[in-house]
Amino acid sequence: MMVLQEIINNYRATGELSHEEIVFLLGLEKPDEVGGLLALANEVREKHLGPDVHLRGIIEFSNHCVRRCVYCGLCYGNRELKRYRMHPYEILDTAAGAVEMGFRTIVLQSGEDFHYTNDMIACLVAAVKKMGAAVTLSLGDRPQAAYTSWKAAGADRYLLKFETSDTLLYRQLHPESTLARRLKNLTYLRDLGYQLGSGNMVGLPGQTITSLANDILLMKELSLDMAGIGPFLPHPATPLGKARAGTMEMTLKVLAVTRLLLPRTHLPATTALGSVQEDGRRAGLLAGANVLMLNLTPVKYRALYDIYPAKAEATSKPQQLKEEAEKLVDELGRRVSSGYGHAVKIEYQ
Ligand code: 5AD
Repeated sequence: MMVLQEIINNYRATGELSHEEIVFLLGLEKPDEVGGLLALANEVREKHLGPDVHLRGIIEFSNHCVRRCVYCGLCYGNRELKRYRMHPYEILDTAAGAVEMGFRTIVLQSGEDFHYTNDMIACLVAAVKKMGAAVTLSLGDRPQAAYTSWKAAGADRYLLKFETSDTLLYRQLHPESTLARRLKNLTYLRDLGYQLGSGNMVGLPGQTITSLANDILLMKELSLDMAGIGPFLPHPATPLGKARAGTMEMTLKVLAVTRLLLPRTHLPATTALGSVQEDGRRAGLLAGANVLMLNLTPVKYRALYDIYPAKAEATSKPQQLKEEAEKLVDELGRRVSSGYGHAVKIEYQ
């Protein structure tokens, strides 16, 4: 029989957890035991990364998408959604405003929208870099030539979640693609020198605790610089509209165990976590997270970037979001980082 205290002692001694031990930790349900796990993750975060919380500004510049991911409200099949594209100048204006406000990382995210050519994206990257910000791209599976040219233009990081490490479930969720392809792209991005972000969703229909343990071990195997972990939230206009949502509790346990195994990886308290419950992001910051991603998309487009329903930050202006984030960080006795928040291995080189 496995005993919690033994697992924790062993972890403290070795920094390791077996698959079986991860499954055990994710299965904890007693509030004091779960609380102990989250507190341990918070302690590990403090020890390796200190009190710094990195703020990232995200601009969702287009909700057009050629893919049919069955969980996502932006999927091609959703004809009810009004689509938008921001003009490159509008994207740059938004980015410039963010840099002026003090954001040091701009995340450019969109559906897989080939209206923006590789060159257009490369120009955007170069222009935002010139403003003095680090650039993260989150544009999905793209041809390798595109990844290469964006890196050459100065992109620092790429965020491409594997969503689930279960080959069969991946295939069911992404009818046009495979997990193998996604993993190949992740390896390619890493080899190009991007700081690598990936991650999963928690509570997908058909997903088991065993499968979540595999997700965590895959994040470790990929030695991610950043891992986004968020609950699955059913979108009514998708085939999974009536499925059950992932819970905040399970998402926090996955986040905490990931922190134990990846002590220096940037872990955001995700927008999805803040959407499933009001205090979700605060709870995330207390369970191992050290990053907040704030939505800087102009308010008139915000509701149209409708990945999942009841998305947090639907209407607040960037300045207000930043102040709220600073207040939250302050209340927790932490501090907003003034650095770029690069991968830790780069930051301390
Ligand atoms: N619920 C939760 N997260 C979702 N995403 C997409 N659709 C959903 C959903 N229904 C997440 C995916 C994707 C990121 C941009 O948003 O993890 O990588």
